[in-house]
Parts: sequence; C-alpha cells; structure tokens
Amino acid sequence: MTGGNSNAVDQVRYLLSLETTCDETAAAVISDRLEVLGAVVASQDRLHERFGGVVPEIASRAHVERILPTIDTALRQAGVRLEQLSAVAVANTPGLAGSLMVGLMAAKTLATVLDIPLIAVDHLQAHIYACRLASGQEIFPCVGLVVSGGHTSLYWCPNALEFHLLGTTIDDAAGEAFDKVAIMLGLGYPGGPAVERAAAGGNPQAYNFPRSLLDDPDRLDFSFSGLKTAVRYTICGPGKVDFSRLQLPPQMVADIAASFQEAVVDCLVGKAFLAVEKTGGNTLCVGGGVAANKRFRQRLEEEAARRNVRLFIAPLKLCTDNAVMGAIAWERYRAGLFEPLDLDILAGPIRSKAGAKVA
Ligand code: KG4
Ligand code: ZN
Repeated sequence: MTGGNSNAVDQVRYLLSLETTCDETAAAVISDRLEVLGAVVASQDRLHERFGGVVPEIASRAHVERILPTIDTALRQAGVRLEQLSAVAVANTPGLAGSLMVGLMAAKTLATVLDIPLIAVDHLQAHIYACRLASGQEIFPCVGLVVSGGHTSLYWCPNALEFHLLGTTIDDAAGEAFDKVAIMLGLGYPGGPAVERAAAGGNPQAYNFPRSLLDDPDRLDFSFSGLKTAVRYTICGPGKVDFSRLQLPPQMVADIAASFQEAVVDCLVGKAFLAVEKTGGNTLCVGGGVAANKRFRQRLEEEAARRNVRLFIAPLKLCTDNAVMGAIAWERYRAGLFEPLDLDILAGPIRSKAGAKVA
C-alpha cells in the first residue's frame, strides 16, 4: 500500500479519523505529529431529545446523511486533500451496530479508493488517549478510567496498544444514571449537563444515597442501578415508580441532583484511586462524557494532589464523543497494525433508546 502524502520537504503524514459509535457523526484530520488540523462533530442531540435517549434507527439514518459532509468539512478545515491522506481510522467498537456500520463503510471505501491502510480504533481506548493528545505528555503506563453514557470501565494501560480491563459497571453506566435521573427530575436530555446545572444550587448532603461496592476493597467494579432506584423512591415514595405527574419543589430537585452527583463522584473517584493503588502505578487518565462534570474533575484533582498521583483529565471538548481522540490510530500505524477490508464492527453495551442498554 502507498501512503498518499507527497510532501517531500518535511514528510508530514495525515490521517483521517472517523467516529460514529453512537449519536455523534465526527471526522478529524490529524498529523503524525498529533496536530489536529480539522475536526468536526455533527451532533444528533436534537433528533433524540424527545425520546429521552438515543434511538438506534434514527442514529444510523442520521449518520448516513451526515458522514460525507462531515468528512468534507474536516478535510477543508485542514486544507488537506483526500490524496494526501496516509491512512483512514475508524472506531469500530463498541457502539450501536447500525451507527458503527456507517463509519466503517465510509472508512473502508476511502481505504480502497485511496489505497491507504485502514486502522481500527477502540472507542474506549480513544477516550483515554484523549489525555495523551491534549497534554502532549507521555501518559503510559497509566490507569485509565472511561466514564460515558454506555461505559464505566477501569483499565491498566502499560502502553498505547495494551488495555487490560480491571473493573467495570455491573449494571448501568454512570452517564446512563445521570440521563435517567435527569428524566426523573424533569430536567431534559442529555441528562449529565442538566443534572450538573441543577446540582449547583443544591446540598450534596441533603440525601444519603447509596455508594454501591465502594467499601469493597477487593473490587474495582461499579454499580449505579441501586442509586438510581434510591433516587426514584425519594421522588415517588418508597416502592412507587411513577414520577410522571409529580411537580417537585425546585430546591428539592437541586438537593436530589447534588446528592446524586456526589454519590456517583464518590464511587468513581474511590475506585479510580483504588486501581492506581492496586496496580502500583502513579498516573491516572480520565475520559468520556461524564468527565466533563466539574464536581467530578474537582474531586479527582483534590484526591490526586493528596496522593501525589499524576492526573490527566481529557479537556471538555474531548470528553464527549469526537474523532480527534482517534489519533490513537497513529500508535497502531507505527506498529503496522492495519486491518483487512473484511474488518467487522463489534457492537457492545452502549446506551440505546431512553438510555436502555443494548447487548
Ligand atoms: O462519551 P459520551 O459523549 O458518549 C458515549 O460514548 O456514551 O458520553 C455521553 C454521556 C451522557 O450520558 C451524558 O449525560 C454524560 O456523558 N455527560 C455528563 C456531563 N456531560 C455529558 N455527565 C455528567 N456531567 C456532565 N457535565
Ligand atoms: Zn464515548
């Protein structure tokens, strides 16, 4: 295969990265020096808003409509022509099957037509790699924590090509819990930012919500479904589930949001530093949509300072889904890890309609 770059002066290579795992259609052009030359995210939030979660069929159709204009805009921003690309990377796991297929087909087509390597990106690894990209510093070896709408997972990452799962959620992802609690509190979608805004005026000690598994020093797993149920019973009354006709006082909404957020943050921070302790490492990297949460970031920073742990948190615009974090593909490029054209998608648990998980 031939690299398309013909710039003989400085031999800069360019990679096109595609991301369509869930409901964002994203493309980025990144150089092998990790400079981001073009980056576009076409959000579908407005399409899914009225359903209170991502509807897979709507998501995949919207990706089909958006993928080509998104690629085009990213290339134009970068001032890079298709023939100048040295590789095309695509997140092929995990995600919604129909959504993943759109990005994969586009990437395969470009790889074939341009005769350049096709590189597979694991979306969760990319969320952690966002820390490497943004900091410009070496982050490996590290403990990586991905907290998103579909995942809450801890990894031991000895280098950019190896990610060993240490623990994960046994039920809901943290972001999914934020989204569900937002619906219960009548705060809209996407839930995370809405709960965070409501929590700003609330008392985090007002309700003593459960912190499942937090006290178990032998486990690096998470569980948020009990917390979600506790919030529901606080809103509806014990054993009751219908919150649709309830009109909660604004201060109660704020207090529940703040207490819920504090419980999630306690679990995430507690297990993340337990993982650092258990692996004997001293670097923690945090990414994924929930890492945009300011209280979470603040608590991570306090705990890292107290324990003298190097902490990297993805910058806000690289927390939620984007194609820039697909820069991890350069690591695979350098290792010669190219994919055949029969590369498949590997779906996996990610939030679906109204935040439910699909296998
Ligand atoms: O990584 P991401 O964009 O998509 C997935 O791969 O799932 O994460 C989206 C999740 C949603 O559940 C959203 O509510 C949550 O991240 N989120 C937040 C915040 N911003 C986004 N959760 C808490 N606080 C935030 N500020
Ligand atoms: Zn994500």
